[in-house]
Amino acid sequence: MAILFEQNEFHLYNEWFSYLMRVLPDGSLGQVYCGARLRSSSAYPLLGPVLTPDRDTLPFEYPVTGSGDYRLPACAVRFADGSSVVDPVYKTHRIYNGKAAVEGLPALYVDQESDAATLEIDMVDAVSGLTITLFYTIFEHYPAIIRRSRLCNQGTTPVVLHKALSMSLDLPDSEWIMGTFTGAWTQEFHLVERRFEPGIQAVSSTKGGPGHQQNPFLLLRRPQTGDSTGEAMGLSLIYSGNFLASAETGYRTSARVQMGINPDQFSWTLEPGADFNTPEALLVYSDAGLDSLSHTFHSVFRNHLMRGVWKDRDRPVLLNNWEGTYFNFNEAKLLEMAAAAKDMGIELFVLDDGWFGQRDSDNSSLGDWFPDHRKLPDGIAGLAHKITGMGLSFGLWIEPEMISRVSKLFDAHPDWAVGVPGRPRTEQRQQYVLDMSRPEIVTYLFSILSELLSSAPISYIKWDMNRALTEPYSLDLQPERQGEFFHRYCLGVYDLYGRLTKAFPHILFESCAGGGGRFDPGIMAFAPQGWLSDDTDGFERIRIQTGASLCYPPNSWGSHVSAVPNHQTGRMTSLPFRAIAAFFGNLGFELDPTKLQPEDKKQISIYLDFYKKHRRVFQQGTFTRLRNPDRHDYAAWQVSDASETLVGFFKLLAQPNSGPVYMRLKDLDQAARYNVSVWEPGGYEPNDKAVNCGNRGGDELVRSGLVLDSSYRTKQGDFFAEVFVIERVQEG
Ligand code: DGJ
Repeated sequence: MAILFEQNEFHLYNEWFSYLMRVLPDGSLGQVYCGARLRSSSAYPLLGPVLTPDRDTLPFEYPVTGSGDYRLPACAVRFADGSSVVDPVYKTHRIYNGKAAVEGLPALYVDQESDAATLEIDMVDAVSGLTITLFYTIFEHYPAIIRRSRLCNQGTTPVVLHKALSMSLDLPDSEWIMGTFTGAWTQEFHLVERRFEPGIQAVSSTKGGPGHQQNPFLLLRRPQTGDSTGEAMGLSLIYSGNFLASAETGYRTSARVQMGINPDQFSWTLEPGADFNTPEALLVYSDAGLDSLSHTFHSVFRNHLMRGVWKDRDRPVLLNNWEGTYFNFNEAKLLEMAAAAKDMGIELFVLDDGWFGQRDSDNSSLGDWFPDHRKLPDGIAGLAHKITGMGLSFGLWIEPEMISRVSKLFDAHPDWAVGVPGRPRTEQRQQYVLDMSRPEIVTYLFSILSELLSSAPISYIKWDMNRALTEPYSLDLQPERQGEFFHRYCLGVYDLYGRLTKAFPHILFESCAGGGGRFDPGIMAFAPQGWLSDDTDGFERIRIQTGASLCYPPNSWGSHVSAVPNHQTGRMTSLPFRAIAAFFGNLGFELDPTKLQPEDKKQISIYLDFYKKHRRVFQQGTFTRLRNPDRHDYAAWQVSDASETLVGFFKLLAQPNSGPVYMRLKDLDQAARYNVSVWEPGGYEPNDKAVNCGNRGGDELVRSGLVLDSSYRTKQGDFFAEVFVIERVQEG
């Protein structure tokens, strides 16, 4: 890993990846190259831009408006005289080992300075004094760089930012396919791909968070790129507010890809001397297909984003009461459920929505974070002590950013709810949103939640957020600063998360926003796991988890086994199918265990013994997709560490007269030998067992694979699953 500056060219490189920029004769910064490692460390005069009068085709590093580049800019400003022309010219740069934190924002980090190197380039607009600092951090161990920008007003009059993106990248050609996560509530993380076409293609959010409909992630791959071969890039924004990810291609072949805070409804006033930090964007590169791209994202998020004591610790198997009881519970019921959970081997009992105020449905009490003594006569502390007394840990659901119209908090502080004076507020799920951009509200929430968390042995918090923002406006902001609302809201959420995680470092935080409405790397810096989707159907989860795994590692998501018929789809799937789908992540149960048949309870105990024995690999192992569920016949995932590999095979819809399936494994040492066994939940007797099991070479497992014959696949009907356990037995 190194960052060089020679002959006006910056070259950031490590073993796999090179990123080059050049200071052009007019002082602007041109983009030269982003891709597989270029071996020579000296300058590349024949690559990249040459200065022509046609600025509209030059590849720029951080494009601006007003001087001949008519493509999308990375930043747009308005000066006090009403003008918007910016001409940033290279002034100086700094190179150092390690990387700096970003003030007020979650950021990637390195433990040791030798893990990364950082370049900061100052670009100055001489007329206005606006300084744009571009940050680039390259990792030692991954083909990845982190980018962001800081805009500082060093002039004498205010500057208003209308757009300030984290990064822009001008690619020399547009032969790329762009992939984004699209979806809806209960249908998150569906990958949608399209070719770059002339014009602008974008995903963005305006909801105050990413929303279920999109995610701050962009995949770029070559048309021929597959799982194990070909070029791909991924961009991910470390941010939980409104974002934009866009690509623009024109009549020439180049493509401009950008990512950052959504400029729609955004503005920010910089007084003289003030600066604005944009969130970090992570760019991952692979020239070995999508598997390798995902592995890099997973490692970077696990090792350089997740923090705190829970970062590497085994995550507990939990029972969440939500789908088991919804709002209809009392202490006796919860204790009965907890006892049944404990019996089966569950480790953590989580009390979901409905424990506070007078909340018997979703129409009241958000903001009143005091136990409902009708349901919990001894309060949260009493319940928590009884549950921990059984040998379980105790966890609790909160939705701190919200306020119900029917609540004591709203009676006392109606002005704390976001809204525009004189206009009605829109209710969603019968609730309003607290103005998290106001520091006194964040401080109030910190104090009341600290009291709650100190009052009982609570070791887990599920932090939910069940609606989007509407009528964006803050009573704290001057009219000309209302464009700052969305970003300040996000900063307020980070502030509260930061204070609580610091004050209660032993608590495992799980983020949630009606499922995957705010599942992003910004939140992951505080909450190392998140609830991917409210869809708990095993079949659907396979699609959702497969999609999410492109960017996010399995230990970043909670995955629950729920009852059948499934509450979202009405579908019947077998218990082992649901359980095995949930093994690949942080396993939980979300049902009423007192209603399970004795045989199912017995089975669950067996599943839990198996999961716990292999938990480290399921949660922390290298996760690889073997077969995506798109064709609805079967799907398969694999997780491995140095000594074992676990393969989850999921038959989805049975097909008559289908041929055998050859499931080639990945990432095994082809020179080593492995012992293959199959774990058969529920006493299945696959008739090809003898074919796959036994002592086998890594080469045959990778090149030929496991074989599942047609009769076995047809006989078991729909939704059959099993796990192959592949242990390394002998050095190759
Ligand atoms: C939405 C979450 O995603 C659910 O799991 C549950 O916690 C409900 N909110 C509770 O209101």
